[in-house]
Amino acid sequence: MPRDDLAVTGDLEQARDCARDYDGGRSLERVFYTSQAVYEEDMRRIWCENWHWAGHVSQIPEPGDFFTFEFGTESVIVVRDREGAVRAHLNVCRHRGSRVCLEHAGTARVFSCPYHGWTYSLDGSLRGAQRMPEGFDKAEHGLEPVHVAVLDGLIFVSLAEEPSDLAAGFAKIAAQVAPFGFADMKVAHTGDYPVPANWKLAFENYLECYHCGPAHEEYSRSHSLKDPASMTPDLVGGMEERAAAAGISTEAVSSSGLDADPPGADVYHRRYPLYPGFLTGSRDGTPLAPPLGTITAHDGGATDVQIGPLNYFLVYADHVVGYRFLPRGVQDTLIQSVWMVRADAEEGKDYDVDQLTWLWHVTTQDDERIIRHNQEGVNSMRYRPGPLATQEWGIEAFLRWYCDRFAD
Ligand code: FES
Ligand SMILES: [Fe+2]
Repeated sequence: MPRDDLAVTGDLEQARDCARDYDGGRSLERVFYTSQAVYEEDMRRIWCENWHWAGHVSQIPEPGDFFTFEFGTESVIVVRDREGAVRAHLNVCRHRGSRVCLEHAGTARVFSCPYHGWTYSLDGSLRGAQRMPEGFDKAEHGLEPVHVAVLDGLIFVSLAEEPSDLAAGFAKIAAQVAPFGFADMKVAHTGDYPVPANWKLAFENYLECYHCGPAHEEYSRSHSLKDPASMTPDLVGGMEERAAAAGISTEAVSSSGLDADPPGADVYHRRYPLYPGFLTGSRDGTPLAPPLGTITAHDGGATDVQIGPLNYFLVYADHVVGYRFLPRGVQDTLIQSVWMVRADAEEGKDYDVDQLTWLWHVTTQDDERIIRHNQEGVNSMRYRPGPLATQEWGIEAFLRWYCDRFAD
């Protein structure tokens, strides 16, 4: 066997053994963050098998409006078809495999492959293919369909052959998130933060606030999640009263990781208080935008929302920050922060993008730095998995789920 093949087989065998043995309480072995073979297995088992939050319906209001969503080797065209339905197609030509759509967003009447000019309708069917031989059947060469779920205006896509029933999972938190009015939002800003690290280190970082005190000075001024001891009954009770008066749910719901029901349709909903003086996640505590949905006031809370195993949102009374951690290589991940406000809010009058994005811009810059240094340390031949802190329960749940998928 050539040396490279031996290394690949060795990495996968080692990773599978480690995944089978994983019993929680610690981080993963080096091979999970350094091996190309493990990365490719992650793409197959995790990324091509689960739902991903690709965007919001407000990004494609009219027939022909589209955007592309990319991770790893994959690119998906998300488009509103002539009948007004949201569809998704694999962005791979059925002739010889070229990318068909090279723009990241726009409006199209058809999608025309730049290589030999095959053209596809918005619904993905092949419309034209020049000078093909007798017997060539256009009906058999439409763009590969990708599963789409539109939940409260949020567009999710899955490359799985049989994806999990995300809608059934979402139903568990639909009533709790209804006041936020997700369907009636718009994207105010998207920030890209590339980090030279494995995608799992970016997820792990998002899933714990053990690092918030040491690493996030600005966030720690306002968010009690940084220190569980600071979530006093008075602080929590005050926020719950204000939230109830403003029409915001504080009900905790969790059906995620290995406990997700149905499997792969994770949901999580939990609101926690900001410190006194902070009505939302702003620099000075004052409101950043009009309250979302049917909310009547700023309550000084923040809700962690998870939909599907890999999609996270943080919801204040007046805006949402959605997160993506998109793999681009074994040690190359694009962190995307997406800020959303209510659809009828006017920029410059009702909100200011610099003010709106300030907190999570500086916080994500901090995260880029600490995740990068995390990868540098994990790359050491002498790195060993270390014990997790109690506050890192979210990592443990994620790694248990990941190892279960990987060892399967
Ligand atoms: S690869 Fe698309 S037309 Fe040939
Ligand atoms: Fe962080």
